[in-house]
Amino acid sequence: MPLVTLRQVLDEAALGGYAVGAFNVNNLEQFQAVVEAARETRAPVILQASRKARPYAGDAFLRHLMLAAVETYPEIPLVMHQDHANAPALCQSAIELGFTSVMMDGSLREDGKTPADFEYNVRVTRQVVEMAHPRGVSVEAELGTIGGIEDGQGAGGDPRAHLTDPDQAVEFVQRTGVDALGVAFGASHGAYKFRHKPGQDVLDIELIGTIHQKLPDTHLVMHGSSSVPRDLVESINRHGGQIRETWGVPLEEIQRGIRYGVRKVNVDTDIRLAFTAAVRKFLAESPEAIDPREYLEAARTAMRQETVTHMRAFGQAGHAGDYAPLPLEEMAARYSRSRRR
Ligand code: G3H
Ligand code: 13P
Ligand code: ZN
Repeated sequence: MPLVTLRQVLDEAALGGYAVGAFNVNNLEQFQAVVEAARETRAPVILQASRKARPYAGDAFLRHLMLAAVETYPEIPLVMHQDHANAPALCQSAIELGFTSVMMDGSLREDGKTPADFEYNVRVTRQVVEMAHPRGVSVEAELGTIGGIEDGQGAGGDPRAHLTDPDQAVEFVQRTGVDALGVAFGASHGAYKFRHKPGQDVLDIELIGTIHQKLPDTHLVMHGSSSVPRDLVESINRHGGQIRETWGVPLEEIQRGIRYGVRKVNVDTDIRLAFTAAVRKFLAESPEAIDPREYLEAARTAMRQETVTHMRAFGQAGHAGDYAPLPLEEMAARYSRSRRR
């Protein structure tokens, strides 16, 4: 099956009342773990490369890993998405690489840290929609800012300081025409999200419901959705790591978000934790090991298992065979028709 677009995969998810996990990938083992999990659960899946993944892996490697995934797993509807682009030029180059979806994160200025104003966000996002839609490529944006703590991504500080305003979201979607919108509801990127188990005072899941009611045709995206499993943190610390006491977003809160209209759930940190826990354990228990294939195999298995858990929790499992992919030309024609109406 050729790559599919985010728009199609999330339209189908909306019909089925489930969400689709978007997993960050930077190397061979992460690509393999995520698509293997999709095969195991018969799930559609979104692979996403962040701005930093691009130079880390190199564009040619990313492109060919993406093509290898499509060739090896022809039964899986697979979206290749640019995560958190800081400028239209990065979206443009992702489209040239063959990605079927891009996120223009205009909630922040080009430095990826400073909160941007609404007009800047509308302007850069609109520019990306005008470039992507004629080619059939889907566009995600972000409104409100999702802090990031240890990775320097996002505004940092209090994650509740810049929640998405529902009325502003309506104006934003009308003026940009995006397919999907990342909303700030109290979560943040990275391993250190909360000091205590987050409840309704911290995570404003009802806000997601309010935005969904106002924008039923725009697919809502939950960023910062790692649950930071305690067993992985404990395993890392047992084998020489030093992860401080921390909480992520509990899976049941994500499931509540899905009932309130979330269709794309972004997960990076949990896969990093699974990778790190497996490598630390393997090397601690086999100090004589020097063959990277041995510990990377352990890491790949752990990442696959973690991804399977998410795919089952999000409801995407079992939906891989529900639909045939719509070509980019067909998606482009649809956008063109809706622009003329
Ligand atoms: O949005 C944040 C993702 O976890 C990507 O992280 O920029 O370190 O690749 P990264
Ligand atoms: P986590 O850091 O919670 O995995 O969030 C990832 C993300 O939102 C990528 O865009
Ligand atoms: Zn994100």
